[in-house]
Amino acid sequence: MEYVAKSLSETHALAAALAPCLSAGDVVLLRGDLGAGKTAFVQALADSLGCTDEVTSPTFTLANFYRGTETTVLHVDTYRLSSVAEYRDLGLADYADECVTLVEWGDLVSGEFPCHLQVEIASQPGSEVRTFTLSSECQRWQPVLQELERRITQAVK
Ligand SMILES: Nc1ncnc2c1ncn2[C@@H]1O[C@H](COP(=O)(O)OP(=O)(O)OP(=O)(O)O)[C@@H](O)[C@H]1O
Ligand SMILES: [Mg+2]
Repeated sequence: MEYVAKSLSETHALAAALAPCLSAGDVVLLRGDLGAGKTAFVQALADSLGCTDEVTSPTFTLANFYRGTETTVLHVDTYRLSSVAEYRDLGLADYADECVTLVEWGDLVSGEFPCHLQVEIASQPGSEVRTFTLSSECQRWQPVLQELERRITQAVK
């Protein structure tokens, strides 16, 4: 499904719609150019999941954990990793079952998570407009994608 956010607050609206559909064990892989809004979307999702600590970019720390109301958010950024082996060495897979895992530059680890939700963010230079494309080949996400589609169609009516 596709969603066009005309502002950061509309990005927050998409995150607020998706967050209630997320639970421990879920993996969302984010793709999009530098500055597209991957971290901004994670911040919005973490906020909607009840995380109170400030979510910062994990480009240098590689991974951060945030305690939410009902689940823990694991925020990963693979930008500085050069291989899946380096990702595996971090030992984060052990935590995936008990966290909602959100991965920036997620393509690197897509093979590690056969049932992931992909969120692609496209931006235009000098604009706040962001086009989000959410997709998955996994059955788990089909009702979520349908529900988001339904909500967005209702919102524009
Ligand atoms: N509609 C929007 N949705 C998301 N971010 C927006 C929007 N409009 C403006 N922005 C701004 O765009 C910037 C996105 O930066 P962000 O760090 O989230 O990108 P990123 O994709 O994580 O980049 P990087 O590849 O460096 O990790 C932020 O400054 C954010 O405020
Ligand atoms: Mg980022």
